[in-house]
Amino acid sequence: MKGLYSAVLASAIVGAFAAPSPVEQGPVTARAAMAACATPVTLSGNPFASRSIYANKEYSKEVIAAAASMTDSAMAAQASKVAQVGTFLWIDTRARISVIEDNLKDVPCDQLAAFVIYDLPGRDCAAKASNGELAAGDLTTYKSEYIDPIVTIFKKYPNTAIALVIEPDSLPNLVTNSDKQACKDSASGYRDGVAYALKQLNLPNIAMYIDAGHGGWLGWNDNLKPGAKELAAAYKAAGSPKQVRGISTNVAGWNAWDLSPGEFSKATDAQWNKCQNEKIYVETFGPLLKDAGMPGQAIIDTGRNAVTGLRKEWGDWCNVNGAGFGVRPTSTTGSTYADAFVWVKPGGESDGTSDTSATRYDSYCGKDDAFKPAPEAGQWNQAYFEALIKNAKPAF
Ligand code: BGC
Repeated sequence: MKGLYSAVLASAIVGAFAAPSPVEQGPVTARAAMAACATPVTLSGNPFASRSIYANKEYSKEVIAAAASMTDSAMAAQASKVAQVGTFLWIDTRARISVIEDNLKDVPCDQLAAFVIYDLPGRDCAAKASNGELAAGDLTTYKSEYIDPIVTIFKKYPNTAIALVIEPDSLPNLVTNSDKQACKDSASGYRDGVAYALKQLNLPNIAMYIDAGHGGWLGWNDNLKPGAKELAAAYKAAGSPKQVRGISTNVAGWNAWDLSPGEFSKATDAQWNKCQNEKIYVETFGPLLKDAGMPGQAIIDTGRNAVTGLRKEWGDWCNVNGAGFGVRPTSTTGSTYADAFVWVKPGGESDGTSDTSATRYDSYCGKDDAFKPAPEAGQWNQAYFEALIKNAKPAF
């Protein structure tokens, strides 16, 4: 490791101070052409239309290690294909900011780097599995030690296109879980924190999508308008930033895109929700967002939604047993409201621990339809990853 580092360093020094020999010139020029665009990137319109998502090194590493530990060689070959899928990289702690640059510096001009901004004070107020590192109300730390350093890094890469999902679940929780004490305590920090993030991250090479839960959440008839109002308020509080494109939906979720009738349309309460699949949800919610004064384009997480009929209840969110990798990231969606199908949740990383004695144990992760055993949220679950491959549609 050390040897490799010195060799790279030595060639960088040669490149900087001496005219490269013809032997060196080839790879150096090729590398320069690979990384970033020749001029600053200004994103407008659908950023996914002409760019694929960069397969970040963190997920690739996890998947390559997972493949290496497989005894079934056919499955290992499938896993190595998963390693090439472009996914979002979650910046879920201040410490995690350290991986951003390594995942920005080599992004080719026809790709975009994708990150999830996820460290609000009092994070995951309606559940326990993803409670974060910052206490409710600690907005100062969120701004100065999380958002500001990220902005500083992004400003160093104006020639690289970037897509961001902003704070999954946060504003939706304020719409539907405002009776919970933890969400009451977090509310102002979420609103101000999201607005701050949107305002500071509003750089020309960035496209932002504010998280809007999914059809089984803000899609209930009574939640649609309050939901649109809540998101649009954060957008306006940020000064209506140009680079906000709309919303992300189904993040770490399980809903089908256009299954009809929808998966839960026979449930007794189905009459109260006209958004029985994600397509109807984004096409219903998008116009309401516009009415409320913000852009209404959507990206939809299809990373784990290949198999339907697995959840006992629509709200079951933790490590759903039997799930498979879904449609690969693409901007061909068939809906003018949907910019792209994307993989936001890195399939194989847990949604929450099934260890009942853990501080972050959430009872949803112990339900009958949840896969067990499961490690802490974000940790690798090899058996679950293998099941995602087995159940993938389309197959790998
Ligand atoms: C966890 C994060 C993790 C993300 C992606 C979330 O549920 O709370 O720590 O980075 O999932 O796996």
